Amino acid sequence: MTRTVASIIAGQHRTDAPGGTLTSTNPARTDEVVGEVALGDAGTFVDACRAAKEAQAGWAATPAPVRGRAIQQIGRLVESNKEALARLVTREIGKPYAESLGEVQEIIDTCSFFLGEGRRLYGQTVPSEMHDKQLFTFRNPVGVAAIITAGNFPVAVPAWYLVPALLCGNAVVWKPAEYAPVLGEALTELFVHGGLPAGVLNTVLAEGPATFDGLSQSLEAGLVDKVGFTGSSAVGVRIGELCGRHLQNPCLELGGKNPLVVMPDADLDLAAEGALFSGFGTAGQRCTSLGTVIVHADVHDDFLARFVRRTEDAVVGDPMRDVLYGPMIHERFAQRFEDWMGLVEGHHSVHGSTGRGRITAQNPRQGFVGDPEAGMYYHPMIVDGVTAKDEIARTETFGPIVGVASFADFEEAMDLANGHGYGLSSAIYTNNPAWAFRFRERVTAGMVSVNNSTSGAEAHLPFGGNGKSGNGSRQSGMWVLDQFTRWQSMNWDYAGKLQKAQMDTEDVTADLDFRLPD
Ligand code: UN1
Repeated sequence: MTRTVASIIAGQHRTDAPGGTLTSTNPARTDEVVGEVALGDAGTFVDACRAAKEAQAGWAATPAPVRGRAIQQIGRLVESNKEALARLVTREIGKPYAESLGEVQEIIDTCSFFLGEGRRLYGQTVPSEMHDKQLFTFRNPVGVAAIITAGNFPVAVPAWYLVPALLCGNAVVWKPAEYAPVLGEALTELFVHGGLPAGVLNTVLAEGPATFDGLSQSLEAGLVDKVGFTGSSAVGVRIGELCGRHLQNPCLELGGKNPLVVMPDADLDLAAEGALFSGFGTAGQRCTSLGTVIVHADVHDDFLARFVRRTEDAVVGDPMRDVLYGPMIHERFAQRFEDWMGLVEGHHSVHGSTGRGRITAQNPRQGFVGDPEAGMYYHPMIVDGVTAKDEIARTETFGPIVGVASFADFEEAMDLANGHGYGLSSAIYTNNPAWAFRFRERVTAGMVSVNNSTSGAEAHLPFGGNGKSGNGSRQSGMWVLDQFTRWQSMNWDYAGKLQKAQMDTEDVTADLDFRLPD
């Protein structure tokens, strides 16, 4: 039986489909239907924001430890449904099952972190400059958070927003990627069954333009207080502009061109293993995926040979099997990848597979498991000979393609690492602490790995980027609390008389002419 999914607003499934319908298919077997989708339109989005606005005050009045209990129950439910949700991740977006299990674990970890935050959510007591007066700070929920997410991490990245936003007392409108709608509904059901009152979490299944219009109308109507967006830098710019007009500061997590620097003293096998996972894990479709390996000229050939061998030997194919990567997560990513393959220039050499482009019976990949024709599978590409002037050194290429550039001195390596203007993730392979710390200091990325992959951030460290990768917002751990709460300060004067700050303060007498004897 085919599953039909729809937006969920104030607990009601909206099957009216004013935005039309679409069919979600398995990218590893494109003739397999995962679900039929009833899409909402801009009006559906506004309705969801209105429902959230109505529910928010009641949720904010629920004691934070009780909200933490809901998060605890959501975490337990996700854990009890771990395999089922992971299987659905693999079916709807083609992520290898082992990675899908990791993705679901990231939700559980996020719940584990924030369930206790309900009993903290600390404010401060601050000394006053006056007698008989006390100062305090409180974290207040922002209000309604509208969260728009991509489908490459169709449940973990949404949970990075939803869990802290809800814990802090906000109501949420979530718009999952239109190519991961069945997962959108599944995650919503798990959250709602964890104990959220109706209207506290509302999920809208809609296309991008309808969502943008709905968001714009909702901001205009004063129904949205915070926007969170994970996706492309181009859309991030438009959302930033829109929010700016409403004096709002969105949480933007955008693209990356993540460098991996290999110093001459590096363990080259470890670096090659790191480059393989960074570059080709999730078929290169993470925002943290490796863009360019920047390798010292003295070890370039040796590193390249090891990286190419590992890539050639890696198993690509059916994501339910033990593979490095499966298909592109959706047809639109496959199409865009075809364009990015055109960034290869005459002075480059391409390695890593038995063919280029789409893997088919006529264009096979050695060691492929499963039926390549059933899905949208692509050969891995290692593009050697990249220079700072090449378009491929500046362009985020969301797919299984990795550039390799070589450098002679550290300055040149840093120019290559930062020159593209993104600043999300980065890595350096070295055994010399001085290089590791110099790299950390100079790289513009928000995240730095030493002797580890550019991808695979742990769920309780600040996650986010700079430059074209975002507006400086950070998710995860305690740092995300600043996205979903506003500091309120309070002063309480119990002197029984008006005491004016800066004016009615006591002073100390000092002898500022005092000098030590010579
Ligand atoms: C993303 O691709 O949007 O660090 C997020 C990582 C994952 C999250 C990636 N934990 O690679």
